[in-house]
Amino acid sequence: MALQDNKIWTVKDVLFWTSDYFTEKDIPSPHLNAELLIAHVLECSRLDLYLKYDKPLAEKNLSNIKKLIKSRAAHYPIQYLLGSTEFYGISFFVEEGVLIPRPETEILVDAFISYIKESSQNTWSLLDIGTGSGNIPVSISNSFKDSEKDIQIVATDISEKALKLAKKNIDNMKIENISLLHSNIFDKVTGTYDCIISNPPYISEKEFKELPKEVRDHEPREALFAKEDGLEFYDKILQNAEKYLKKNGRIFFEIGAYQKEELSKLTEQYNYKIIDIKKDYNDLDRVLILINNT
Ligand SMILES: C[S@@+](CC[C@H](N)C(=O)[O-])C[C@H]1O[C@@H](n2cnc3c(N)ncnc32)[C@H](O)[C@@H]1O
Repeated sequence: MALQDNKIWTVKDVLFWTSDYFTEKDIPSPHLNAELLIAHVLECSRLDLYLKYDKPLAEKNLSNIKKLIKSRAAHYPIQYLLGSTEFYGISFFVEEGVLIPRPETEILVDAFISYIKESSQNTWSLLDIGTGSGNIPVSISNSFKDSEKDIQIVATDISEKALKLAKKNIDNMKIENISLLHSNIFDKVTGTYDCIISNPPYISEKEFKELPKEVRDHEPREALFAKEDGLEFYDKILQNAEKYLKKNGRIFFEIGAYQKEELSKLTEQYNYKIIDIKKDYNDLDRVLILINNT
């Protein structure tokens, strides 16, 4: 099966051909994937494709669409092909080498935003550990842009590539209250914060092998994988957090779906208490909110 060059292809033809081809290759949501890739090359919205339905495709566009179809059929993530993804109602730039933001992380962002909104305190400092594309701090800042709440955020990552992309996303949203810091967890962090937020790497060795090929082969291993059964980063953060948290400060963690029990033990060991747990869209424990017990 191929998109032959010696025939005229309309938008409709290519759409249906691609959708069938993706189905054959086990690509989830094949029709949506076909629409997104074709609309990306034609620089229009998915809906606009239906206004161009019977229009023949220019040779150059067809050739670009073919390249994208080939990559997607080989299970290369669609977000990397499109160069962007939606998170918390914002379009974020994404690129290979930096983790693609996930819908579950919106629960973490929501938990923090609700806490700030419910509090009478107006000035906040937040440390985001492992910021990746900057999706967490940008979404938080954007939510408070017309509010009386002033939130100063330091967003760290060990990956220079992630920090570069985070800067692009911060600049794109014209946000001024986020400072980026190249740091291995706390090693370059100074000062104290009202809250620490983190979606650290938390996939254990066993789970890593079971990840979909799309994630395992194309997303950065250092953004996903953690030693000690996935608990390495929680352990390192909890071990040192007291030094960086203000009195009554809170920690907001995204966690792996089945890590709550193990994390309860770890938090106790470091003298923290879980004060709230948020579930994700699949009813799995996804966010822990902690305070220091002392
Ligand atoms: C699961 S990703 C989260 C990315 C983003 N915050 C999100 O929620 O989509 C974890 C991030 O932690 C970063 N990271 C890994 N090891 C780190 C370390 N030792 N210190 C700081 N950041 C680290 C990775 O580069 C990656 O960007």
